[in-house]
Amino acid sequence: MSLPTTRFLTGITTSGTPHLGNYVGSIRPSVRASLTAGVESFYFLADYHALIKIDEPARIQRSTLEIAASWLAAGLDPERVTFYRQSDIPEIPELAWFLTCVTGKGVLNRAHAYKASVDKNTAAGQDPDADVTAGLFMYPVLMGADILMFNAHKVPVGRDQIQHIEMARDMANSFNHRYGEHFVPPQAEIEESVATLPGLDGRKMSKSYDNTIPLFATRDQLKKLIAGIVTDSRAPGEAKDTEGSALFQIYQAFASEEETQTLRKAYADGIAWGDAKQILLERIDREIAPMRETYQDLMNHPAKIEAILLAGAAKARKQATPFMASLRHAVGLRKLGDQAQATTAKVAKAALPSFKQYREADGQFRFKFVDAQGRLLLQSLGFASPKDAGQAIAQLQRDGAAALTTLAAQLEPLAVDATVVGAALELLAVGT
Ligand code: TRP
Repeated sequence: MSLPTTRFLTGITTSGTPHLGNYVGSIRPSVRASLTAGVESFYFLADYHALIKIDEPARIQRSTLEIAASWLAAGLDPERVTFYRQSDIPEIPELAWFLTCVTGKGVLNRAHAYKASVDKNTAAGQDPDADVTAGLFMYPVLMGADILMFNAHKVPVGRDQIQHIEMARDMANSFNHRYGEHFVPPQAEIEESVATLPGLDGRKMSKSYDNTIPLFATRDQLKKLIAGIVTDSRAPGEAKDTEGSALFQIYQAFASEEETQTLRKAYADGIAWGDAKQILLERIDREIAPMRETYQDLMNHPAKIEAILLAGAAKARKQATPFMASLRHAVGLRKLGDQAQATTAKVAKAALPSFKQYREADGQFRFKFVDAQGRLLLQSLGFASPKDAGQAIAQLQRDGAAALTTLAAQLEPLAVDATVVGAALELLAVGT
């Protein structure tokens, strides 16, 4: 028996040079996760997303190369995972349109990134949508398509992205409700310990604050940048605070528990900032130096990366292409000659009422009976076991409306007329 696999998926927007924050928060954990048994991983370069922020073609190309090389140099094995470039999968923008059509505009109005722009414009006394592209507005839908295309279970992201994952869940549910079960609602996977790496100025390390340390800076550059990390003015010999020390937090993201304790003690003992910076330099360099050579080699041979990405896209499309075909069929984008064949059975099934069994937080088993549009016809009370619930369902299927009386004590009061429930039970009996 094979283990049930969990599918992980994450993307990085190709809008800049990868920095230590990307490495600690995304690249390193995703490489580690990809080595775990029972995990199937999808990692991609979100270059369609980059178009929302960047209109410099050369920068997008450069960033795509750098991020791909970083991921590979950090140990991502393209044989083990599915590693691809978003824009090589034409099914993704197609799915984005399908999802656009099941997503409320009001939901997108509330997306953080869009709202932030609107709030900023409003505060400045400008038109709320000034300089807001429809691309920014649709950002969450494209991201939903990335995730749902491969039915990922877990999406490792930073806290700022949680809302997008929730929206993707809603898109999955809305689509499933209309067209049948096609999508798995995904979950965000937050790495608490690495959510925010501080940058040179102590704020979150981010391109937008211009406070980053590039992942593949040379040792000399690294040394210079580390020298620029903000510290306080305490002199050598004076005890230093680890709390709020960007230097300490960056060190912690690379060091073992033991190493961290040692530096904590050195802080208390009044280590000079210059010496602490030297320790940080050595620790980061120890982890990054072995990857630098691979990175440089890949950067010097972009055609190698191109070939890896194209192979990854072919692998991804082995799933995406047939899946998209079934989704096209589900929504009614069908070959006109097909009608009479495979479709009738499915349509008839989709139009039937159905029983849904589930387990509640109280450990009890319940079922409901819903019509083809998902309206609730019947709701059971709790059963001790799934078997008991199943027997009640069997009785309803066998005896129809008559069973409503026999089972009355195990059902919630009817929300609709008993004859409607009876008719639906009959429809089900005929249909199956
Ligand atoms: N929005 C993510 C970011 O800016 C990148 C991204 C695009 C992504 N599509 C995704 C992440 C799908 C996870 C899953 O960091």
